[in-house]
Amino acid sequence: MAIEIEHRDCVSIVTMNRPEALNAFNSGQMLALIDAFREVGTRIETRCIVLTGTGEKAFAAGADIREIVNLDVQSGTSFGRLGHTVTRTIEEVRQPVIAAVNGYALGGGCEVAIAADIRLASPNAVFAQPEVGLGIPPGWGGTQRLPRLVGPGMAAEMILTGRRVHAEEALRIGLVNAIHPLDQLLDASVELANSIAVNSPYAVRTAKQLMRLAFNEQSISGLQTEAERFGAAFGVADQHEGMTAFTDKRKATFENS
Ligand code: CAA
Repeated sequence: MAIEIEHRDCVSIVTMNRPEALNAFNSGQMLALIDAFREVGTRIETRCIVLTGTGEKAFAAGADIREIVNLDVQSGTSFGRLGHTVTRTIEEVRQPVIAAVNGYALGGGCEVAIAADIRLASPNAVFAQPEVGLGIPPGWGGTQRLPRLVGPGMAAEMILTGRRVHAEEALRIGLVNAIHPLDQLLDASVELANSIAVNSPYAVRTAKQLMRLAFNEQSISGLQTEAERFGAAFGVADQHEGMTAFTDKRKATFENS
């Protein structure tokens, strides 16, 4: 199964399960993740959701570069919009979502993690938006949500350099709330989820919706523009060069266009 769901009383654990590609998202994986959140979102017993990745290496290594390397503007835009549906579904689900980041959270993986309400990490967690090195801008909400979370300067550094942020730094900049040993991360996330679940479901749900209002009209229009510009990047040679370089395991050479 690409996505697994486990219920521990009032906490539902959603696990991205594609270890052969470090849980990278192909379209099937994205659709399955949307379905999983819609399913647990309507499960009346679920008071809080924990999202994690299978294995000991990755939360999710981003969009599946092999699937998107040959996309054009139209299909790239559709792929970007599907990614936006994933992140919006996570953000808008009725219950709070805790991302248990158990390794790489790169590109779309980082964007999925920051669509959650809270992030806990293991010491091997690594966050990055490496898209500019692949010839594209971040395309699943990173340009809008990351500045909100870590501040515009740090977000600009991460997005424009693509550099990796390890767990300790992620804690320092507010990208994660706490670090737990890898073998205790899931239990710690469930414990945090339970400490939310004891509260009034109505009040928790309302508070989550109200916090979302801080995401103003300007940010919503920013998300729409991001989806369009992500798709447009598939009409520029740099995208093909950047992604082919990844699949060929070589360094990319970009044009000055
Ligand atoms: N897409 C497709 N396959 C991927 C992948 C991805 N994003 N990330 C990892 N894989 C695959 C590798 O190709 C490899 O497969 P094979 O064994 O068949 O070659 C397998 O997963 C294991 O990966 P590595 O051998 O590369 O493992 P590593 O430990 O040496 O490196 C890594 C791990 C640093 C995560 C490296 O795999 C990597 O850099 N991956 C790409 C990360 C990335 O650039 N993500 C952004 C994608 S674009 C995006 O997400 C756009 C957006 O905004 C939505």
